[in-house]
Amino acid sequence: MNRVLTVPQLREYKRRQEKIACLTVYDATFARVLEKAGVEVLLVGDSLGMVIQGRETTVPVTVEQMIYHTECVSRAAKRALRVVDLPFASYASPGQAVESAARLLRAGAGMVKLEGGRGRVEVVRALVAEGIPVCGHLGLLPQSIHRLGAYKVQATGPQSAQHLLEDACLLEQAGIDLLVLECIPATLAESVSAEISVPTVGIGAGAGCDGQVLVLYDLLGLGMEEAPRFVRNFLAEVGSIEAAVAAYVQAVKEGSFPAAEHTY
Ligand code: KIV
Repeated sequence: MNRVLTVPQLREYKRRQEKIACLTVYDATFARVLEKAGVEVLLVGDSLGMVIQGRETTVPVTVEQMIYHTECVSRAAKRALRVVDLPFASYASPGQAVESAARLLRAGAGMVKLEGGRGRVEVVRALVAEGIPVCGHLGLLPQSIHRLGAYKVQATGPQSAQHLLEDACLLEQAGIDLLVLECIPATLAESVSAEISVPTVGIGAGAGCDGQVLVLYDLLGLGMEEAPRFVRNFLAEVGSIEAAVAAYVQAVKEGSFPAAEHTY
């Protein structure tokens, strides 16, 4: 990967069945390490509220904070596609979403990510109409934690699974370019990935997705004391940060991560 990864090239990954390696990143040094190791998509996630700021949830994160971290990452990352989270309540209407996303793009984002399904269709359409690439996010929606009550696997019953599949199709029709699937049964993630032409990137969603994403600090064993089922500590296996990230990329590419023990 010598030039900036473009949105159309992402579709090519799916077409030729090459897995997409994605990790979260919040600063310039790690952005450089990740890019060197071959991570194709860098996610400046609002998980920074938890892993950088030490908060309980992602809800307090602001657009200004996302801009700051996007600028930090963008100064170092020259080739990977930079996907940036629209934080909580920054995309409640199409107008507000376009305004927030424009600020993130000016800071260096190549794509914005938002959480939710059918209720977000108008917002996605408005962003796409402005030429802004959009990544959807279905399954566990951390910005809705106050309604969910707990971080737990989603869409486990037939009705909720059907609802999620329909949401994925509606987001595709609205124009998304990438879709994150978080903490859902592997069989459902596989069905969604087969049904839509948009590449899917899973976290706790099994090996059937078109790519994988993890919170960087989780793969370095620096996350929560009790790591979620889908986390693998690559640093403990190989001993250096650079080698851990490279091992993650290789495991995603060859399909050995996630394995059955990381899957719901
Ligand atoms: O904010 C984030 O890090 C995310 C990933 C968990 C997908 O949205």
